[in-house]
Amino acid sequence: MIVAIEGIDGAGKTTQARRLVRFLNSKGVSSRYTSEPTGSGLGKIIRAYLRRGGIDPYLLALLFAADRVNHLNKTVKPLLQRGYIVVCDRYLYSSYAYQGVMTGQPLWVREINRMAPAPDIAVLLDVTVEEALRRKEKRIRFEDPSFLDEVRREYLRLCEAGLMVKVDASGGCDEVFAELLRAVAPRLGLGLDP
Ligand SMILES: Nc1ncnc2c1ncn2[C@@H]1O[C@H](COP(=O)(O)OP(=O)(O)OP(=O)(O)O)[C@@H](O)[C@H]1O
Ligand SMILES: [Mg+2]
Repeated sequence: MIVAIEGIDGAGKTTQARRLVRFLNSKGVSSRYTSEPTGSGLGKIIRAYLRRGGIDPYLLALLFAADRVNHLNKTVKPLLQRGYIVVCDRYLYSSYAYQGVMTGQPLWVREINRMAPAPDIAVLLDVTVEEALRRKEKRIRFEDPSFLDEVRREYLRLCEAGLMVKVDASGGCDEVFAELLRAVAPRLGLGLDP
């Protein structure tokens, strides 16, 4: 199973994805944390472009898709074959949302990502842009709040379309984790006890 944790920059994805993996492993459910963009050469190129800014949005979308192919082949599929639950900190729907907004070509973005299997569970950690930027403080990448708000609205549309489950991520870490578990535990056949 692929469990994707999504949300705008600073929503709390890494915090919650890592915590979910620790929780699952403590329950005897073998799971592993992984993230996109990856630590591979392609991921490094993506990060360098994002730091520099001004990259062609189509090129960026293709780079993310290429990094995803590599991630799937090198990391995700081998883990799935070994029976792990793979918790992805950003996955396919990050491209639907960010690259969809950046290119204005959501159908094209889906097309170039057709090789990527849909996640079995996708969670949107939903917070306001204001709160997310507050959490991120210095580490701002896409600092344009109006862009992030468009991305958030695109994510919310994906929830309405039934692709993702929305989790209110405005509370503290423990509160958000409890909400996250409420959303995913039944689908993973687990109880909710911490
Ligand atoms: N529920 C929360 N309440 C307050 N602060 C939080 C919460 N969750 C995470 N944080 C803090 O906010 C910051 C951003 O969290 P985190 O790195 O998990 O977000 P992210 O979605 O992974 O961000 P990025 O998109 O940059 O990878 C971190 O300093 C983290 O400790
Ligand atoms: Mg993160």
